[in-house]
Amino acid sequence: MKFFVDTADLDEIRDLASTGLLDGVTTNPSLVAKSGAKSFIDLIAQICELVEGPVSAEVAATDYQTMLKEGQKLAKIAKNVAIKVPLTPDGLKVCKQLSDAGTMVNVTLCFSSSQAILAAKAGATFVSPFVGRLDDISTDGMQLIRDIVQIYKQYPAFKTEVLVASIRHPMHLVEAARVGAHVSTIPPKVIRQLYSHPLTDSGLATFVSDWKKTGQTILNAA
Ligand code: G3P
Repeated sequence: MKFFVDTADLDEIRDLASTGLLDGVTTNPSLVAKSGAKSFIDLIAQICELVEGPVSAEVAATDYQTMLKEGQKLAKIAKNVAIKVPLTPDGLKVCKQLSDAGTMVNVTLCFSSSQAILAAKAGATFVSPFVGRLDDISTDGMQLIRDIVQIYKQYPAFKTEVLVASIRHPMHLVEAARVGAHVSTIPPKVIRQLYSHPLTDSGLATFVSDWKKTGQTILNAA
């Protein structure tokens, strides 16, 4: 499974990129606003330099003509930019145009299997079903992931990757991996939670303590 980080915070991206585990980045207008960046274009350019993999930059408009122009402009920032468009009729028309021109497209705000089928037919590189926001309204977000993965498997011609988004906790990621989703885009806080287990902590403390009792060091040994 590919790990993308879901943030526009350069410090978080820089720190997590240093782990070697990061395969891409997703941003959205809310994350960009939260970052306080004064130039969206410069922000995306900096992120594209920090991470080799796909970096999602979302258009701001909602009409076909303006979204297409915005997408074409954003695509020129770097070769690893993926243009994010909303799952609307105009958004999918833009998706078709940009993907036919060889630009990566991430179709976002997906909340149903029918929408995901449209995104694949529009040639999306990624489709982003939002599991957390479905859970938030007492709907089983992970069932949508299972359904989309199963549907896409029926059609080898569908090249769209399922990019699980709106992840709220580690179990969203584990379940997404269990069902074979291609990518998860994960908030920095949740990525860090993935490492944690109390038995790892206690076990390591015991190893350190018992090693000290040997009175030896590895580096100074002959
Ligand atoms: O960035 C796309 C998606 O992951 C955002 O979801 O629900 O955390 O705003 P949410």
